[in-house]
Amino acid sequence: MFLWGTATAAYQIEGAAAEDGRGVSVWDTFSHEPGRTRDGHTGDVACDHYHRWPEDLGLMSGLGVNAYRFSIAWPRVQPLGTGEVNAKGLDFYERLVDALLERGIQPVPTLFHWDLPQALEDRGGWLNREISEIFAEYASTVAERLADRVPLWITLNEPFVHMAYGYAMGVHAPGQALLTGALPAAHHQLLGHGLAVRALRAAGARQVAITNNCTPVWPASQEEPDLRAAEAYDILHNRLFNDPVLLGKYPDLSAYTPALDFLHDGDLEIISTPIDALGVNYYNPTRIAAPAADGLPFADAGITGHPTTAFGWPVVPDGLRELLTGLKTRYGSALPPIHITENGCSQEDTVTEHGTIEDEGRIAYLEAHIAAMRRAMAEGVDVRGYFVWSLLDNFEWAEGYHQRFGLVHVDFETQRRTPKASYSWLKAFLEGQNTDT
Ligand code: FCB
Repeated sequence: MFLWGTATAAYQIEGAAAEDGRGVSVWDTFSHEPGRTRDGHTGDVACDHYHRWPEDLGLMSGLGVNAYRFSIAWPRVQPLGTGEVNAKGLDFYERLVDALLERGIQPVPTLFHWDLPQALEDRGGWLNREISEIFAEYASTVAERLADRVPLWITLNEPFVHMAYGYAMGVHAPGQALLTGALPAAHHQLLGHGLAVRALRAAGARQVAITNNCTPVWPASQEEPDLRAAEAYDILHNRLFNDPVLLGKYPDLSAYTPALDFLHDGDLEIISTPIDALGVNYYNPTRIAAPAADGLPFADAGITGHPTTAFGWPVVPDGLRELLTGLKTRYGSALPPIHITENGCSQEDTVTEHGTIEDEGRIAYLEAHIAAMRRAMAEGVDVRGYFVWSLLDNFEWAEGYHQRFGLVHVDFETQRRTPKASYSWLKAFLEGQNTDT
């Protein structure tokens, strides 16, 4: 069965930040620090999904999806990240999973979507190797409760973005700006992934995947410095996260780190523990030029000649086909089946005087990207699922509530949900689908 779904993440929608024993996460801390997020927005309330989840599941049933990718808030399950388990936290996710299954919607939980318990950040966060083992223990705690009902698990969401934005540039939690000094945070996340795959399987999990953010890299010119910079970017954004998982080795990192002293014997065997699927999040290609003088080995040259989203991200649907066929060329038989675990766009959606949201741009975006995915499938790439980011307008990290990605509009004053035109479009599209294709 091809999975057609929507995707969300705990910190972006749940709210109820201090309820039922939930611990503090790095995103609570970061978003409450002055100047970290646009207009000082926080996820304290977000979409109040923690209380309104039955309504949100109703919206998904109405849409006709057969899968839902959500994330589990680690600090809800283990307030201090390790040790004591908060029964109310696990109960919440169990109710959600059961209610999804009752509606014929496959639950696809992600175990880590960036909301590390603050108590673990206080021990060094993902720069500390111990966090990898602790993550696997948490994975096993959740799986012991839910593995009998969950068809597909995702360990991590976008370890690249978490490393780059959270530890290299400091624009996401935990707000560290270490540039290439952030590389251990990549390795420890990957090690945590591998250990979690093993822990999940031991607890009876059926299928396990990791979600990577992948981008086709376009050199700004065919001149040697631009080509070299593009290769560096491809290594740091794509290969650093796909090669160890799929091939059991790192690309050549000697230009970025003096020594791989964070890499211990046996780590790569753990990281490359076979997975059942690769989750791919696609938003746009990246055009790269020779470095500016900011300490990074590349510069973002920007893409012109394409429309852009409200975020300013270029809209290049064929980039999805290029990415998928490129993965197949690069990894060949080592590439497992793929799920597109996120794809979507932010728009400046406005509510008309009739109370509707006519987001024609989002409809065009989704239609073109689904078509591009199908071209890749026709070229032999094994894609098994497609998840729209996102079900609801939500807390878009450093951008707060300013970027709206939802199929459903949320009025953050009243929490009123209003399905947009794109929701009706997707509903009609799904009604026309044979779910096997
Ligand atoms: C991805 C994140 C997701 C959301 C989208 C727009 O990088 O995984 O949480 O913010 O971008």
